[in-house]
Amino acid sequence: MRSTVVTTAFLAALSLAAVAGGAFAADSGQAAFAKRKHAMDEMGHALFLQIGKVAKGQLHYGPDTVQAAQTLNNVAQTIATLFPPGSAVKGSRMNPDIVKDPQKIEALAMQTQATTAALLVAVKTGDLSKIGAATQTADKACAACHTQYRLKTKL
Ligand code: HEC
Repeated sequence: MRSTVVTTAFLAALSLAAVAGGAFAADSGQAAFAKRKHAMDEMGHALFLQIGKVAKGQLHYGPDTVQAAQTLNNVAQTIATLFPPGSAVKGSRMNPDIVKDPQKIEALAMQTQATTAALLVAVKTGDLSKIGAATQTADKACAACHTQYRLKTKL
């Protein structure tokens, strides 16, 4: 848990620094792939293994649930930066067409951010049915991108 918090703070700082300094251009494709995988895994872990399980009654609601929702919402802010040209490397499932559709990616990222922000609000209420509904809405936003831009097999 502690390492997740630290990593998220690190990622958030990294993305801010990158936005300020244009550092993403310097990222190698491999590094960008590793960063993307880490960010996606972190969001998946928070959404499905932490919040989703609470909604299903398989895990107790608590401060960790709120922290997971916060982490998810923080990482979601970086989504549009995770697909730089050259990062559709071997082993990745990123559809290389992503780099041709920056506006569409921006829209899908913003849509996802709206759902993770709403999920954070829902999680803070502690109401399991609200949390469940907001989890599903977020899941749909993630899937809207995955169905179009995540390949079924690795490159
Ligand atoms: C704008 C597009 C987009 C959005 C939005 C998006 N993803 Fe992804 N996601 C991808 C792509 C592309 C990959 C494949 C990345 C790769 O293999 O290089 C991926 C991969 C993943 C993976 C697999 C990571 C691995 O270990 O290979 C998980 C888990 C994941 N996403 C979770 C999420 C969750 C949860 C959300 C919503 C909160 C989300 N994603 C939103 C595009 C997106």
